[in-house]
Amino acid sequence: MSKQFDVVVIGGGPGGYIAAIRAAQLGFQVACIDEWKNDKGGPAPGGTCTNVGCIPSKALLQSSEHFDHAAHHFNDHGISLDNLKMDVARMVGRKNTVVKQNNDGILFLLKKNKVSFFHGRGSFAKAVEGGYEINVAGAANEVLTAKNVIVATGSNARALPGAAFDEDKILSNDGALRLGAVPATLGVIGSGVIGLEMGSVWRRLGAEVTILEAMPGFLGAADEGVAKEALKAFKKQGLKFEFGVKISKVDASGEGVVVSFADAKGVEQTLAVDKLIVSIGRVANTIGLNPEAVGLALDDRGMVVVDGDCKTNLPGVWAVGDVVRGPMLAHKAEEEGVAVAERIAGQHGHVNFATIPWVIYTSPEIAWVGRTEQQLKADGVAYKAGQFPFLANGRARALGDTTGFVKFLADATTDEILGVHIVGPMASELISEAVVAMEFKASAEDIARICHAHPSLSEATKEAALAVDKRTLNF
Ligand code: FAD
Ligand code: NAI
Repeated sequence: MSKQFDVVVIGGGPGGYIAAIRAAQLGFQVACIDEWKNDKGGPAPGGTCTNVGCIPSKALLQSSEHFDHAAHHFNDHGISLDNLKMDVARMVGRKNTVVKQNNDGILFLLKKNKVSFFHGRGSFAKAVEGGYEINVAGAANEVLTAKNVIVATGSNARALPGAAFDEDKILSNDGALRLGAVPATLGVIGSGVIGLEMGSVWRRLGAEVTILEAMPGFLGAADEGVAKEALKAFKKQGLKFEFGVKISKVDASGEGVVVSFADAKGVEQTLAVDKLIVSIGRVANTIGLNPEAVGLALDDRGMVVVDGDCKTNLPGVWAVGDVVRGPMLAHKAEEEGVAVAERIAGQHGHVNFATIPWVIYTSPEIAWVGRTEQQLKADGVAYKAGQFPFLANGRARALGDTTGFVKFLADATTDEILGVHIVGPMASELISEAVVAMEFKASAEDIARICHAHPSLSEATKEAALAVDKRTLNF
């Protein structure tokens, strides 16, 4: 006997569990299926984000940043420490506690919203009259039917051909987040978001980190000025970079890992390291979903094909998050989840892709929203730029962190904000003001005329907006 629901969500990451909660708020009978297991085999909803992504990486970034401050910056404040030590097991234990708090929080939220949670793998069985039959296999073994199905099965790390992850020496994000000790030498393939965040964690704790990147330049998606400033800071912290490499072999048969590659000049090189993180992007995950059973269309990269509204080729089947096109970000997955639940309810759910913020939680932090200067040039848009350095911001000086700047890009004629790019302290928090401004189609002058608290980092945002009109007050 199958259990009947209005909406079945397959996947309990940020896309799935948020879609389930929103659908339940709208009055639907909702089931959410998720297969992630904690170390005791119990449910661990929250997906990649909660278990091996956003949350644990930020926990380790925080711990390693504290260590770095204690080692290099406390002295400036008159605080001296003898015998500074890092207990990696404890740091990783704290990270695991933070993850568990989030898993438990999500279980609580599902219950509070009367979403039925099934711990196991969900797969399409067949189309039935007025809906779909979904099998659940695992801790829960059930058959569910629903008129609406939301696929939110996420993504997995992409492996280098010929170098499968063993999570001991060749690490994905998963292994990189649970190393038992600081490796003396760490190689990272890919200078993208994971490479920079995880490379920073282990560099701060003392590893010698070398990052090998295929592209000739650094952080192509970021504004060029921001990327240049960030690279300068990362190199100062001791991160080593090789751009324009072509990896030919990864050999983990010995004690460590030896990476053979051609450098930018085509010269064959080798890099011998204790551990290697491979962070070269992620692939959509539909393993075990059995899309063939109902004819759910995937593209040639394995992503579920959707239109702008997250509708698949099948009536009543939707897909959100990392398993579909668009940036692989938790907040993008959540917005899509909410919008889909609202569309199922006949409302007009909407995701504005033009105002999705990007944040890289390194030190300095990097954050942006909207178009970069190079994109505006390529699009032939006439724009004005305004920039303000944290060096001239009183709060940044008091914090002891004056790296970087805020940069505004505004339409040359209308002054509408087209992009905001920040590299520096708390960029992750500062960017929200720019997102709100862009959602409301604000002009740079609007921000320039708003009262910002003193002393605060947000004054740099106001000053960058003033700089668009060449009238900064403090620089
Ligand atoms: P996922 O979070 O991957 O969740 C999918 C869930 O579905 C999983 O629990 C999986 O077990 C389950 N599942 C899959 N198939 C089935 C099935 N057939 N049956 C049942 N369950 C199934 N993004 C940010 O915005 N900010 C960050 O700071 C950030 N940091 C990151 C750090 C790292 C190291 C990584 C790897 C990613 C990070 N991301 C970050 C990206 C973010 O984690 C993803 O964009 C987000 O998790 C995508 O959400 P999702 O719901 O689409 O998929
Ligand atoms: P990424 O797409 O950010 O970066 C991958 C990098 O690897 C690119 O610079 C690419 O040119 C390079 N690369 C690809 N193939 C290569 C090869 N063969 N040799 C050398 N370099 C190669 O992917 P990453 O870092 O794996 O992260 C995956 C996704 O997870 C991100 O795109 C992001 O969506 C998400 N994420 C988000 C975070 C955040 O929001 N703070 C943090 C971490 C991950």
